[in-house]
Amino acid sequence: MDRKFIISIDGASSTGKSTLARKISNLLKFIHIDSGAMYRAVTLFAKNNHLLSNNLVDKNALIKLLPNIKVDFVKNNIHLNDTDVSKDVRDENISNFVSRVAEIPEVRSFLVTKQRNFTINHNVVMDGRDIGSVVFPNADIKFFLHADLNIRVERRYNELKSLNSNICKEEVKLNIIQRDYTDSNRQDSPLIVPENAISIDVSEFDINSLFEFMMKKIHSRLSQ
Ligand code: CDP
Repeated sequence: MDRKFIISIDGASSTGKSTLARKISNLLKFIHIDSGAMYRAVTLFAKNNHLLSNNLVDKNALIKLLPNIKVDFVKNNIHLNDTDVSKDVRDENISNFVSRVAEIPEVRSFLVTKQRNFTINHNVVMDGRDIGSVVFPNADIKFFLHADLNIRVERRYNELKSLNSNICKEEVKLNIIQRDYTDSNRQDSPLIVPENAISIDVSEFDINSLFEFMMKKIHSRLSQ
């Protein structure tokens, strides 16, 4: 294989994108880029610099500080300015602000450049909201995962409950509804089904059969 092979997996929150991207990348020995973690890391940077308050982001200040932000993956863990922040970026407070940060066009172009650079030397599985539509419109194979809201809430609630027993299901639901709305309605790179994507309702599968289904599609594309 000469040129780099790119697999994009897009979809709304809690559809299993990252879990599947991880499994696929492990099997194929591709690198996995969780683009959502990059938006979360920028949001954490904004929080650490006191740029988040009352549901508002100090956009101008954040844009000015973008050159001070270094985001990398080390062994699949997201690092912000050389510190592993993979736990911190999953914090509820970050989830509540991340879509506001992700709608800033300057933040998007800053991260999209980095996302494209990851494919210079590597075959990649990248998951997110705009990977097949904007970041890699010519990806070799594109998936779009979707599921009913209540199924996604249940999934995210169980995931968060194992980390924090005080978590409230209504808050989890509200956060997912708000992010679905902001991510789908923003001007720059909204969440859409990318052209030529294989669209899958994940509620029809368990994770292993979904993985097998996606791998069949990938193998048939790899052998073309
Ligand atoms: O884990 P979950 O699916 O809840 O979210 P995530 O993948 O960590 O993404 C967090 C947020 O980052 C999303 O709600 C979007 O606002 C933003 N995002 C984006 O705008 N574009 C991407 N390619 C990936 C994430």
